[in-house]
Amino acid sequence: MSCCCTVTWAGYALLVWLAFRLFNTVRNIVYPYFIAAPISDLVAFSGGKWAVVTGSTDGIGKAYATELARKGFNIVLISRTQARLDSTKKEIEAVKSGVVVKTISYDFTDPSAEHYRQKIVSELDKLDIGVLVNNVGMSYDYPEKLTAVTGGLDVLSNIAVINTVPTTLMSAIALTQMAKRNKGVVINISSGASYNQMSLWAVYSATKKYVDWLSAILRLEFVGTGIVIQTVNPMLVATKMAQIKKTSFIAPGPDQFARSALRTVGIMNETNGCFSHQIQGEIAKLIPSILLTPFLTKQSIGIRAKALRKREREAKDD
Ligand SMILES: NC(=O)c1ccc[n+]([C@@H]2O[C@H](COP(=O)([O-])OP(=O)(O)OC[C@H]3O[C@@H](n4cnc5c(N)ncnc54)[C@H](OP(=O)(O)O)[C@@H]3O)[C@@H](O)[C@H]2O)c1
Repeated sequence: MSCCCTVTWAGYALLVWLAFRLFNTVRNIVYPYFIAAPISDLVAFSGGKWAVVTGSTDGIGKAYATELARKGFNIVLISRTQARLDSTKKEIEAVKSGVVVKTISYDFTDPSAEHYRQKIVSELDKLDIGVLVNNVGMSYDYPEKLTAVTGGLDVLSNIAVINTVPTTLMSAIALTQMAKRNKGVVINISSGASYNQMSLWAVYSATKKYVDWLSAILRLEFVGTGIVIQTVNPMLVATKMAQIKKTSFIAPGPDQFARSALRTVGIMNETNGCFSHQIQGEIAKLIPSILLTPFLTKQSIGIRAKALRKREREAKDD
């Protein structure tokens, strides 16, 4: 075969690959948000009456818990602070009459399997869990090198634990039940920060990559069952963690985000959760990392400089 013929076939193969990538990109942006019909009865689909949400007294977790209550689930809220759990319970009860809300106070910086058994497994074993949302997570206050993160080793350890251990153990707890019923939904909240090697966000980016891999591997382990394991990779959502107060098209509020993301359950195994984030996510996946990584690094350096200037100003004011 001539060299010219080989080049032609390579060209066709490239075109087919590009067409496939483009089709997938457009499909991921349009299909889940404008065409696909969301599951009408998530309680029946999941096979359990209870939804468990970690990190559920604020932000995205609270929004998921509230939306799942609206969809007919009873709710288990698991967060650190009992007073905040109590007020979130009241808020959810006001949104949906007849809903039963249980609370478990647990500090997820504690990775002890024994403590999980005592405080969480003992409670959840009594309930049929239809949906688990592994939401709790922690990040740096601002982008910084591993060796200079405010709070040092304590904060690094907390981020590493919170972003990986609860998702692992809670999945194991819920899936043990779900496997017996052959039904259930596990939603793992990762981040767009998992797509790239994010300089100055080392532990956050790396732990979110762990969540992506764990979810993908669990999908393999439970393939052929009625169990759905979904990875959600949000971009910016206007929450306390993101330090964004004003919502926008780029950074929606947590309620809007959770409502949109829940519509994609059973439709997308991996999602950015809402239309504007899906556009950003698909673009990020299309750009080669050799181009995107330097851009993201520059952006992180800019955010760090701004945060340090703000700190200096605040220190002077004190
Ligand atoms: N916001 C974004 O832009 C964004 C983007 C991508 C991914 N995400 C991911 O989305 C998830 C939620 O983020 P968010 O922005 O909604 O956060 P958030 O507003 O800061 O809420 C965090 C929740 O977790 C709880 N929590 C914090 N530390 C805890 C601990 N040690 N033990 C138990 N509970 C704890 C908090 O409640 P208490 O303080 O009362 O315990 C609160 O309910 C995280 O996994 C995050 O990585 C967020």
